[in-house]
Amino acid sequence: MTAPVALVTGANKGVGLATARQLAERGFTVLLGSRDAGRGAAAARELTGLAVRPVAIDVTDQASVDAAAAFIGREYGRLDVLVNNAGLLVRKHATDVTADDLRPEFETNVFGLVRVIHAMLPLLRESPSPRIVNVASNSAIFAKATEPGSMFARSHESFAYSATKAAVNMLTVKYANAFLDDPALAHVKVNAVTPGYVATDLNGFQGVRTTDEGARVSVHWATIGDDGPTGGFFDEDGPLPW
Ligand SMILES: NC(=O)c1ccc[n+]([C@@H]2O[C@H](COP(=O)([O-])OP(=O)(O)OC[C@H]3O[C@@H](n4cnc5c(N)ncnc54)[C@H](OP(=O)(O)O)[C@@H]3O)[C@@H](O)[C@H]2O)c1
Repeated sequence: MTAPVALVTGANKGVGLATARQLAERGFTVLLGSRDAGRGAAAARELTGLAVRPVAIDVTDQASVDAAAAFIGREYGRLDVLVNNAGLLVRKHATDVTADDLRPEFETNVFGLVRVIHAMLPLLRESPSPRIVNVASNSAIFAKATEPGSMFARSHESFAYSATKAAVNMLTVKYANAFLDDPALAHVKVNAVTPGYVATDLNGFQGVRTTDEGARVSVHWATIGDDGPTGGFFDEDGPLPW
């Protein structure tokens, strides 16, 4: 078989770019997803020498996602790893958020993730060991959000973002259960991860971890063996509470 093929969405910068590089260093042919073709091409040039190809994919645009799936089907006939990394955080205080304010983050983090999984499933099922990694967040954890006085209980500006990532976690569990009950998809493992607090554009580079550190958990769960779990939520140290 040819080298395994991985698609990382939102891979033109931040944790996604580091994930793309680490997967390529492990022998994957990496499709570096970027909603902007120019930014994707520039990021791929940073990884010169590795098997990395930029692919235009805007997770909020059905035609773009369909075109990416058609390209992967034509070129490779299967997909071994899908890392749903593309994400958006719009800071606005909870009490100021309108229903319409929720849309951009839900479109990207939730509807976009489902759009990509749905489009890529026919390609994933062709892989002998398909893996899906959904990038969630510590801010999705109810145990943290309900801990009085904690940073997560007081981060009122991540109102919509936290809700989208909690939705990502539930979708991960629901997909895992559905795959296990479908003989054609039972070999697809899907897990949610959090990279920790990483210094990227998403948080104005306030995070304390490097993108390389943040990417490790995605790469680990993208490459687990056939005896590994499905439907879980993990950081680099192991399982997390929901
Ligand atoms: N940084 C942290 O501390 C942290 C913590 C927990 C979870 N996460 C999660 O980690 C993931 C990566 O975030 P990051 O910190 O690396 O942030 P980042 O540097 O802002 O990267 C986000 C990536 O998502 C892409 N993206 C946004 N909307 C998109 C769309 N509609 N279609 C395709 N790509 C889109 C961005 O593309 P453009 O360059 O075109 O905008 C960019 O490549 C996200 O899911 C985020 O929620 C991050």
